[in-house]
Amino acid sequence: MTQEDGKRACGYRAAELIEDGMQVGIGTGSTVYFFIEKLIERVKSGLNITAAFSSIRSKNQAMEGGIPHIENDLFTKLDVTVDGADEIDAQFNMIKGGGGALLREKILATSSTKMIIIVDESKEVAKLGGAKLPIEICQFAYTATIDKIQNLGFNGEIRVDQDRFYQTDGGNFIFDLNLQSPIDNVQALHNQLITISGVVETGLFFNLDVKLIVGKKDGTLK
Ligand code: A5P
Repeated sequence: MTQEDGKRACGYRAAELIEDGMQVGIGTGSTVYFFIEKLIERVKSGLNITAAFSSIRSKNQAMEGGIPHIENDLFTKLDVTVDGADEIDAQFNMIKGGGGALLREKILATSSTKMIIIVDESKEVAKLGGAKLPIEICQFAYTATIDKIQNLGFNGEIRVDQDRFYQTDGGNFIFDLNLQSPIDNVQALHNQLITISGVVETGLFFNLDVKLIVGKKDGTLK
């Protein structure tokens, strides 16, 4: 049994919690993959939902399986969003964006009545800051934006994918911060970064109504 079994267990459990008639936000990542897999089964058995997606990757998987998409993504409120996380603490503060979809993930999260976060146990931390903190930035004059981030004392690197700068589905770049120490005040750090012109979104998620489902390596839930 492996980490993958934990991801499957929490992904499948989250899919069982989706109810008829819901508008569902669907995140991105290897854990969400299993959520979508099970949700497809439930839709094939008659579950009636519509969904919005934080990435083309998730959307393709879901739509190939027959999960209906909210037309043109024109939602205002979602009933629930199901997503993974790179780190989560006991207050449900999170670092997200390892999969490169943080802006759309945050739009889904902040438009949802509640969130279901699905993680394997390796993602639970006492304090955030061990993982890189992704910052989504505009392509335009990205050098100026990075300079401003660095002038605040942060180190990091622009994300690269196959010899080119990684581009989000919305056409932005990602600057991954290497934090030197655990984050003391998540909201203050977010506020500091988001006020820089050119920063589109940070990977810090907080103040959300979260139900956490943790999968263990042995394939059971915590
Ligand atoms: C995507 O941008 C991220 O926020 C993911 O939710 C996060 O990286 C978790 O992904 P895994 O489930 O693949 O670990």
